[in-house]
Amino acid sequence: MKTKGSIKKRRLRYNHMTPKLAAELCKISGEKYVIYDDKEKLEPYSHDEVAETQYAHMPEALVRPGSTTEVSSIIKWANRRKVPVTPRGAGSGLSGGAVPIHGGVVMHMDRMNKVVEYDRINMTITVEPGMVTNDINDLIKGDGLFYAGYPMSLETCYIGGNVAENAGGGKAVKYGVTARYVIGLEIVTPTGDIITLGGKLVKDVTGYNVIQLMVGSEGTLGVFTKITLRLMPLPKANVDLLCLFKTPDEAIAVVPKIMTAGGIIPTAIEFMDKTSVQTTCQYLNESIPYQQAGAMLLITVDGPNAAQVEQEYEAIGELCMKNGAIEVYVADNFTTSQRIWNVRKNIAEAFKVISPHQSLEDIVVPIASIPEMVRELQVLSKKYGVSIPCYGHAGDGNLHATPVMNPAWTLKRWNDTLPNILIDLYTITSRLGGTISGEHGIGHKRKKYMPLVVSKEYLGMLRSIKKALDPNSILNPGKIFNTLA
Ligand code: LAC
Ligand code: ZN
Repeated sequence: MKTKGSIKKRRLRYNHMTPKLAAELCKISGEKYVIYDDKEKLEPYSHDEVAETQYAHMPEALVRPGSTTEVSSIIKWANRRKVPVTPRGAGSGLSGGAVPIHGGVVMHMDRMNKVVEYDRINMTITVEPGMVTNDINDLIKGDGLFYAGYPMSLETCYIGGNVAENAGGGKAVKYGVTARYVIGLEIVTPTGDIITLGGKLVKDVTGYNVIQLMVGSEGTLGVFTKITLRLMPLPKANVDLLCLFKTPDEAIAVVPKIMTAGGIIPTAIEFMDKTSVQTTCQYLNESIPYQQAGAMLLITVDGPNAAQVEQEYEAIGELCMKNGAIEVYVADNFTTSQRIWNVRKNIAEAFKVISPHQSLEDIVVPIASIPEMVRELQVLSKKYGVSIPCYGHAGDGNLHATPVMNPAWTLKRWNDTLPNILIDLYTITSRLGGTISGEHGIGHKRKKYMPLVVSKEYLGMLRSIKKALDPNSILNPGKIFNTLA
């Protein structure tokens, strides 16, 4: 029989930061790059972009390393001192991944933001993790190359965070997600070793595919210190279509048809319902026309020349019109495209500002199941009496359904009801062959719901991997699953 004592004994214990431990950290990184005992300065590192405050947790210290060897020294020190370390990029995550839920030290990677090597001939770029994702493209576009990752926060997020979360975003329909482009990594392991994985190779089967294990590991299996990305030829032409529909059902029904009947894989097929568009236009003080449409598809087509792109967007436009679109607008100039994409990119932020009591979800289903998923969302909305605006990357089945607190409710009622809404939502998603996170990750926001969509054997396997690589549970503990239970 288990006694309370024996359970206690099995739990890993962390040490709290003390002035002595803070002094040791300063010795490694320099006083200038350590924050300790300063609530005001530490507060911004207690949360990411998740709106609900219950997912925040204060760090006990912050460190900003400047090199790989320094990262290694910090991690080794943390193992010796039994202090948890939570790596952090720009803090634009949406599952609490960079939140130090066991306290300890947040390791902010902002100083490691340089280009290590840009190799035009091999079409690769090796960068440090703190580089802003969009800056990569700014740097290389003049050479006719581009990095195809396209998270909606690309103007602020860091590539290291993209790799940690295996970020998806707006161009995944055609270009896939971050993982497809990561061909090399230098990592510091949870025990402080420095290991190089892969390199500039397109093919590499030398042992386990550890790079792909690291991608999407949410800061739990290693700290990335160098990232080698595969680059693509920059498409010479691209056009955005804005397709208006009376209802979300009609808009969504077209999505799989574009690829099956139309035989075209567009760069992006983004879906926005009326509430999402109107809320964001109001937030941005933007006046794009057609806001009254029941739903919109924002479709991007790119290709090697204008003629091919024109042929494809005309075919898509016709298909939309045949399938119930009220109107299809072609945004073939940069300003119009930018305005529409700006609305799309700001939806999450707009909802967060307008209602902090909401749950931004990230479900993903096979593309053929999207119409049913959208119908199920409407049923769920009626069942619980809450609005569930929806937008997202319809072309790859990844939808940001966002239950928002009914303004007539008390906060207690909302907090009591939300878990039931989420259980229903995730159960339906799973029934349709989908899962609970397509791009934002599990973090600690979704970990208690994991058993709804994965087997206990799979969870056991994840735990075994974590234990093998991080025996002291130092690196970002308590994410994806409970390490300490
Ligand atoms: C987006 C973020 C929320 O697609 O993933 O806007
Ligand atoms: Zn998204």
